[in-house]
Amino acid sequence: MTKVDAKPVRVSQTTITELMIPAYANFGGKIHGGTLLSLMDKVAYACASKHAETYCVTVSVDKVEFLQPVEVGELVSMMASVNYAGNTSLVVGIRVEAQNIKTGIIKHTNSSFFTMVAKDDNDKPTQVPKLILENEEEIKRFIEAMRMKEIKAKVRDEMDDAKSKIQLNNARSILNGERCQIKIRL
Ligand SMILES: CC(C)(COP(=O)(O)OP(=O)(O)OC[C@H]1O[C@@H](n2cnc3c(N)ncnc32)[C@H](O)[C@@H]1OP(=O)(O)O)[C@@H](O)C(=O)NCCC(=O)NCCS
Repeated sequence: MTKVDAKPVRVSQTTITELMIPAYANFGGKIHGGTLLSLMDKVAYACASKHAETYCVTVSVDKVEFLQPVEVGELVSMMASVNYAGNTSLVVGIRVEAQNIKTGIIKHTNSSFFTMVAKDDNDKPTQVPKLILENEEEIKRFIEAMRMKEIKAKVRDEMDDAKSKIQLNNARSILNGERCQIKIRL
């Protein structure tokens, strides 16, 4: 099957809804963050592979902050959209909401961004269709993802630079007042 050159965002938009069962809970009775991340990874995959028409892998995950706890018995919905198309990569934005079935109250628990790369049959990155932006929100999200990519590249460079400049001979003064103790074991 030949891939199309460009696709609208709406074609690959994907939502999954899942009931939060007791097996997903931690000792405090709230849903494990890891359970939510695993569901997010699945919806990101479904959305990205629909756009790319090929197998996709997760490369990075940004802005994972669980703003409110999710309870057992709530219905969690994850809405995924392709926000950005690069050459072989896609950025999928996922909005997560939890609904209390009895009260009907819906809380927004987090919005995160998954970078996915499309792979060909030889496991090599392969080009994805362009994204057709059909409204202002989609244009805004595309530009936002471009900016985020630039910022991430800058932060990565700065972190590499900072790491290479760490001098262990003045570690004691750098760590003064921090919540750690140096006890070197020889
Ligand atoms: C990510 C991966 C595909 C990159 O492969 P590569 O041969 O280095 O390919 P490239 O350098 O050409 O990068 C391919 C794309 O990934 C993007 N990419 C690479 N590293 C990235 C990172 N850390 N964050 C975001 N995007 C990244 C590149 O920008 C590029 O996008 P573009 O084509 O749209 O410009 C490869 O490292 C891989 O397969 N990793 C394992 C992924 C996996 O198995 N995930 C499952 C979870 S364990």
